[in-house]
Amino acid sequence: MTPSASRPTHQLATVSRQESLGEGAYRLRLSLPAFPAASAGQFVMLSDGENGEPFLPRAMALYQAGRAGRRAAVEVVYRVVGQGTARLAGAVPGQRLWILGPLGRAFAPPQPGVRPVLVGGGTGIASLHLLGKALARGRTARARRDVTVLIGARTRRQLLCKSDFRALGARVQLATDDGTVGRRGTVAELLENVLTEEARRGRTIGMAYVCGPTPMMEAAWRVCERAGVKCQVSLEGPMACGFGVCLGCAVPCLVADPEAPVRSPRDRMKLMCTDGPVFDAATLAWGWES
Ligand SMILES: Cc1cc2nc3c(=O)[nH]c(=O)nc-3n(C[C@H](O)[C@H](O)[C@H](O)COP(=O)(O)OP(=O)(O)OC[C@H]3O[C@@H](n4cnc5c(N)ncnc54)[C@H](O)[C@@H]3O)c2cc1C
Ligand code: FES
Repeated sequence: MTPSASRPTHQLATVSRQESLGEGAYRLRLSLPAFPAASAGQFVMLSDGENGEPFLPRAMALYQAGRAGRRAAVEVVYRVVGQGTARLAGAVPGQRLWILGPLGRAFAPPQPGVRPVLVGGGTGIASLHLLGKALARGRTARARRDVTVLIGARTRRQLLCKSDFRALGARVQLATDDGTVGRRGTVAELLENVLTEEARRGRTIGMAYVCGPTPMMEAAWRVCERAGVKCQVSLEGPMACGFGVCLGCAVPCLVADPEAPVRSPRDRMKLMCTDGPVFDAATLAWGWES
């Protein structure tokens, strides 16, 4: 996908806000003297390094990145799932965290005239917010409605970021497993519905941008494949270093000639952190988590 033009930096940032979004989800805002220009789909590695036991940094998608007065501000949206995210949730204003980034390859924008759909499952929707902003920029209010955003979660209270996408002027639709709001079922099922309905109305969607748990992304990709829609996915598997050194984030990819001799494992594997996290879904050998 699109390589970054900026070199990442490693520095201490100060927590300026930690907002609870409910159900163990948080929006964390960091203030720092400067931060390189970042593109939609890139991520940072965050760790609490100043005090206490050191631990491996955790990867977080950039939710916002820009200026706040004379300083830079970076925001991430996350849910507590284990020790690292619990420590992030315990960070209070004034505390300092290490930040490394921006890292990884960004989403490639759609070709002019191609209508996009953004599909986020769980916290995966956070990875799509900068893309939503980029797609809304410079469009008329009417053209912003051509950007469809599908957000899925287990239940209503776990749906994240919907008001931020609505504020961008996008057309937002929801899916919950328990049917407490939006369509009952998965966000991949909602995607299938939307692609069919839009095509029926002659408003074909040509590019899907997907992020969420791996099985959800695979399901969304299968929907796109059947519908002939191109699909970019942002993978969120475990990472240790974030910049291509530990080789702990390898994912299998498809090769043009499966009979060709394998010269190196890198012939058939891609690194999530440096080759991705954004990939053309058609290039991956799906099924590695099943
Ligand atoms: C590029 C990228 C961007 C990401 N962006 C976000 C984001 O914006 N918001 C957000 O909430 N999370 C995001 N994640 C996932 C986040 O990095 C993990 O949830 C976090 O590292 C878990 O750390 P932990 O110490 O709390 O959990 P651990 O103690 O390491 O694990 C707790 C449980 O979560 C599982 N787990 C751990 N890491 C992952 C993972 N990466 N994917 C799936 N399951 C995992 C473990 O198997 C275990 O069951 C992103 C990951 C990547 C690679
Ligand atoms: S996380 Fe270390 S190589 Fe990708």
